[in-house]
Amino acid sequence: MNIFTFIFLLLIHKSVYAKDANTINFIKLFIQNDQKPTHLIYGGLCWKKSNYLGVHYNTGLRMNDIINKLVVELSTIGVRTSASFKPKSKYQDHAILYLTDLDCAQSKAIISYALSKELFQFTYRWLVLVTSKQLQQSKISLLMNGSVLVDSDLVLAERVGNHFKMVEMHRPGLNGSMITTPRGFYNGSFVDVRPHRELYRRRRNMMGHPITMSNVIQDSNSTREHLPKEDRLELQYDSITKACWSAAKIGFEMINATAKYIFSYRYGYKVDGQWSGMIADLYSNKADVGTNCVIFRDRFDVVTYTDLVAPMRMLFIFRQPPLAYVANVFYLPFSTRVWVTIAVCTAIATVTLYLASKVELVLTKASTQQQLDGGICDALLLTMSAVTQQGCYLEPRRAPGRMMVFVLFTALMALYAAYSANIVVLLQAPSDSIRSLPQLANAKITLAANDVDYNHFVFNQSKEPLHTSIRDRVFPENGKARLYSLADGVERIRKGLFALHSVAEPVYRQIEATFLESEKCDIATVDYLVTFDSFTPVRKGSPYLELIRVVHKQIRESGIQSAIRKRFLVSKPHCTTKMSSFSSVGLMDMRPVLILMLYGVAVSVTIVIGEIAVYKLMNRYKRSSKVQLIKVMK
Ligand SMILES: *[C@@H]1O[C@H](CO)[C@@H](O)[C@H](O)[C@H]1NC(C)=O
Ligand SMILES: *[C@@H]1O[C@H](CO)[C@@H](O)[C@H](O)[C@H]1NC(C)=O
Ligand SMILES: *[C@@H]1O[C@H](CO)[C@@H](O)[C@H](O)[C@H]1NC(C)=O
Ligand SMILES: *[C@@H]1O[C@H](CO)[C@@H](O)[C@H](O)[C@H]1NC(C)=O
Ligand SMILES: *[C@@H]1O[C@H](CO)[C@@H](O)[C@H](O)[C@H]1NC(C)=O
Ligand SMILES: *[C@@H]1O[C@H](CO)[C@@H](O)[C@H](O)[C@H]1NC(C)=O
Repeated sequence: MNIFTFIFLLLIHKSVYAKDANTINFIKLFIQNDQKPTHLIYGGLCWKKSNYLGVHYNTGLRMNDIINKLVVELSTIGVRTSASFKPKSKYQDHAILYLTDLDCAQSKAIISYALSKELFQFTYRWLVLVTSKQLQQSKISLLMNGSVLVDSDLVLAERVGNHFKMVEMHRPGLNGSMITTPRGFYNGSFVDVRPHRELYRRRRNMMGHPITMSNVIQDSNSTREHLPKEDRLELQYDSITKACWSAAKIGFEMINATAKYIFSYRYGYKVDGQWSGMIADLYSNKADVGTNCVIFRDRFDVVTYTDLVAPMRMLFIFRQPPLAYVANVFYLPFSTRVWVTIAVCTAIATVTLYLASKVELVLTKASTQQQLDGGICDALLLTMSAVTQQGCYLEPRRAPGRMMVFVLFTALMALYAAYSANIVVLLQAPSDSIRSLPQLANAKITLAANDVDYNHFVFNQSKEPLHTSIRDRVFPENGKARLYSLADGVERIRKGLFALHSVAEPVYRQIEATFLESEKCDIATVDYLVTFDSFTPVRKGSPYLELIRVVHKQIRESGIQSAIRKRFLVSKPHCTTKMSSFSSVGLMDMRPVLILMLYGVAVSVTIVIGEIAVYKLMNRYKRSSKVQLIKVMK
């Protein structure tokens, strides 16, 4: 090697070295500019040869030198570096920045690997270096063809001399063409030209790419016609679906996407291990977004839930049974202590009256008809007639006894006023007896379900004994399933002692249409599955997830969502005029009294029979003893 060659190589070495230092500085500034926790993973780097002048400079040492220098430089700003592409823990994903250099041959394998493992998705960031886009066309078109979609953060940095020019690349969808936006440049200092640092703020223009929504029809096929028109007609059918579509459509407009729709006849449950309905549409990529649906654990495998658009709950809806059905209203006005006190007072009054009448009898000698005859029976009769607020022809003739009766009447008058006032309220009061699922399961009330698709599935979601016992009442083992149309079911709710399981909104609408104001007062609901509210499902791993999330939040914050709710949905009916109506008292309300009368009749008949029997026995005994006497006398 002559001296000139040596000097030449030395010069190249220097300039190559300067170039590498430049690259390292660029990477460092790039990471610092992002201001994010970063874990750099590099792959497909071949920094052992200089492609600057096309001179190969292949000592293994040098490559290690440059990468070592990169690692050391980055460690000074607190960035970890590694060469392993295998993700270790998904909790670190948000920090990962992948680095590759298209000038190196291995980078093709790296990109193919990343595409197959979907490593261009959100949270992963990419920095791709290239010297000449023309020379590396095949690799770039590999990227262009791959799923570098709206959620990918890929920066292509092109070397121009000692400078770098950065562009961002993404495609709005697999059918869309690549959109390139400038990211900034590096000329020794780093200049960032992004209008917004937030990724999804920069991705809000989908350039008319279609996003498909799957709409669930449960009530009527007329929804196919009215939903796309958004004409708010026939809102009694699938109003939740229509509200969700209206909100979603505004969201699609906000991101300049074309709204497309398909229809599905089921929310989506596993049938023989396969998803069906809307969830299947999402899973098989026929749609990206769905109608609000309830969160079930198994759905988490295939969808992610975003925002709540229309509140949707599946509930048992019923009118609380009247109090008289669940408790003895004639006992309720007073507490047990008061009843005991009344009994004790009555006993004391009887005893004192009895004593007073005894004394009276001794003093007056001649007893009249209306006077107490000094026996306990008369005293008891007098107190009982006072307790029941009835008159009695017997009365004491002298002051002590009369004082007793006076005190008794006064005390009982106050009690009676309180009692009768209370009874009137209690006879009309709805009970508050059913407030939880176990109470509903124990109540003597018909359990049924709205005759729509989801009710065939939700009852099978839980295997708990309480839930299965309720399912067996709605779907009896042998016999017809208790499924009613909405109108029929709500009419039965109105008549009482009937609970209908349904999505609440259509039932509320029907209640508002058919119930009297006072009939709305005692409407109660019990949640069968005790789930969360319903949320909008998006396919798991969909590139649009974050965009949809953001626009849904904006729709909610701007108040559009609540406007949509008010236009499409009916909330739980409230009664304004509580207790103003007359409610008739039926036989059921009087049941305890009737039962008491029956007992009384039974007891009196038994006593009559007993008396007759005793009388007959006595007569026979007397007769036989007379006969014996006569025999003996004879
Ligand atoms: C890109 O995709 C199209 C159609 O899928 C295919 O014809 C073409 O060969 C692909 N290009 C590359 C570079 O893979
Ligand atoms: C892509 O475009 C073609 C033709 O325009 C169309 O047939 C196909 O359904 C589109 N694919 C997607 C996923 O949109
Ligand atoms: C880099 O470019 C910026 C903006 O054009 C300029 O202000 C700055 O002076 C340049 N830095 C160098 C070192 O050339
Ligand atoms: C929305 O997308 C269309 C392409 O469908 C495009 O022509 C238009 O410029 C976009 N609108 C905005 C505001 O960028
Ligand atoms: C609604 O349309 C679907 C498919 O077109 C059909 O299977 C279903 O029976 C229709 N339902 C009613 C109530 O007409
Ligand atoms: C629900 O479970 C019952 C009993 O296990 C079964 O007979 C019925 O077919 C199931 N329904 C559905 C829709 O899977």
